[in-house]
Amino acid sequence: MIKYFFKANLVSIVLTAIVALGFPGLAPRAGAQQKGVDAEGHAWWQHAVFYEIYPRSFADSNNDGIGDLKGITTKLDYLKELGVNAIWITPCFPSPQVDFGYDVSDYQAIDPMYGTMEDFDRLVAEGKKRDIRVILDFVVNHTSDQHQWFIDSKSSKTSAHRDWYIWRDGKGPGPPPNNWLSTFGTAAWTFDSKTGQYYYHYFYPQQPDLNWRNAAVEKAMMDVTRFWYKRGVAGFRLDAVDTLYEDPNLTDNPVLPGTDKFGRPNMDEKYNKKLPEVHGAMRKLRTTADEYGSVLIGETWTSNVDQLKDYYGANNDELQMPMDLMMTGFKGLSADEYRKHIAAVNAAGHWPVYVITNHDIVRSYTRYADGTHNDDIAKMVAALYLTLRGSAIMYYGEEIGMENNDPKSKDDVQDPIGKLGWPQEKGRDGERTPMQWNHGANAGFSVAKPWLPVPASAMAHNVADEMKDPDSVLSFYRKLLALRHTEAALLDGDYVSLNEENPNVLTYLRRYKGEAVLVILNMSAAEQRAPLDLSATGFSAPKLEVLLTSFHKQVKGMFAVLPMEPYSVFIAKITK
Ligand code: NOJ
Ligand code: CA
Repeated sequence: MIKYFFKANLVSIVLTAIVALGFPGLAPRAGAQQKGVDAEGHAWWQHAVFYEIYPRSFADSNNDGIGDLKGITTKLDYLKELGVNAIWITPCFPSPQVDFGYDVSDYQAIDPMYGTMEDFDRLVAEGKKRDIRVILDFVVNHTSDQHQWFIDSKSSKTSAHRDWYIWRDGKGPGPPPNNWLSTFGTAAWTFDSKTGQYYYHYFYPQQPDLNWRNAAVEKAMMDVTRFWYKRGVAGFRLDAVDTLYEDPNLTDNPVLPGTDKFGRPNMDEKYNKKLPEVHGAMRKLRTTADEYGSVLIGETWTSNVDQLKDYYGANNDELQMPMDLMMTGFKGLSADEYRKHIAAVNAAGHWPVYVITNHDIVRSYTRYADGTHNDDIAKMVAALYLTLRGSAIMYYGEEIGMENNDPKSKDDVQDPIGKLGWPQEKGRDGERTPMQWNHGANAGFSVAKPWLPVPASAMAHNVADEMKDPDSVLSFYRKLLALRHTEAALLDGDYVSLNEENPNVLTYLRRYKGEAVLVILNMSAAEQRAPLDLSATGFSAPKLEVLLTSFHKQVKGMFAVLPMEPYSVFIAKITK
């Protein structure tokens, strides 16, 4: 038995509880309703843990080196045990795969490389049996240049779909209509000699932008969402929403000092990004989503909380879950920086959606690793984004401490931006490598050579081995997610920041009615001391029950100030 004592009144505290592994229990708490909202007015997606799957890389059922839908279905039990409530599958629609699925050539079918529509229906049905919802990725801004709409659009200036895309004359015989640039390293305009005009693409030339000012485009896209809602899809992650509209006058963007990673002048993209019209489109997508009780998650890149706030809609009538991607840009681990950001997000008054990484961003394990405390850091980062107030979106493999496996040479690169920008921009292959299921060949992902290589670290960081190790990153995630599903304070509690002056230790309470969960995170490589005085928070004679720590050494004694190992986590339940 470990005893802790608080400073002021020396109240003794109970025992160290090792949270039981196993199914964390998705059943609602007493008083909560399964459908609609709970006693706190929270909908299912507010308590759900979302898990992003890159289908090429999750599980390969037919051993062709590329993951598929049947593969995902075989892993639903694993996800259920982990504590996942919804999977977001990045695009699995027919696609020439120039941008690995983000170039869609048919929005209402499944790419044969991933399986069939029957496989998809079965995935949804098997998910339903396990209370795991399926979220699809809707690429709203652009199609593939192989989509029938674009093929027709390109065929003549008078074709039925001509105005479904953005066609313009160049400035005279040579130059494009204006100075806008594609974010993927090329010009944003491609000349088509057949009709003598340029078409616009914010991403690759094979991803022409749809013209959302055309009502027929808008209607077609709403119909796509209905098609999938009727098949049981619980919502969409909306791709690149800020690129939906462009200035109709095609005003040049202001040029800024310096160059980007492709060596082009920096630009203030004020005329081709984040136009106010985006909000009208979000409201319409939301109206359709509401007809089916579905959720909209936004790929919402923002530079501050005010911008993020706008995506919820002035009347909460846009996205329920605009992703807060800002933490992914923080350099290093500074308790101050996180504390300030979390405070700003909470002050904005909406339901937060914290994202720590995804298929476009270097994995968090690699971003924060210091070579000495890598697994401890992974656990600490997990405890951060999974105990905050809000919905969490995990990325596959984060729970086993997968690292980036960047290409070693330009010839190895698959992602076109990596070929174009090498070596400054290596592309996104590194964060998209196969899920590591065991320490066997190809990490158990496939019998065939996988489309991307597995790193040597898969020998230690894989599901099978980590499942057996109570101190693994995976075991930590499983305990943490179990707590997240069962502790009322973690589901519904307020966020109360404590010990705000400490630059190394982030401390907060999630407070709900007469109880709370105390979270202490040492974000530094040195041992730190964390005060345990809760007298200012309304808990005058609190009892403390340890729920979860990542400590290596046993802590014994009476503490007014808790010694925290480097990058360690301490989570305890507080009752009066
Ligand atoms: C954002 C997606 O996450 C990324 O992978 C893709 O390349 C672009 N949007 C273009 O669709
Ligand atoms: Ca396959």
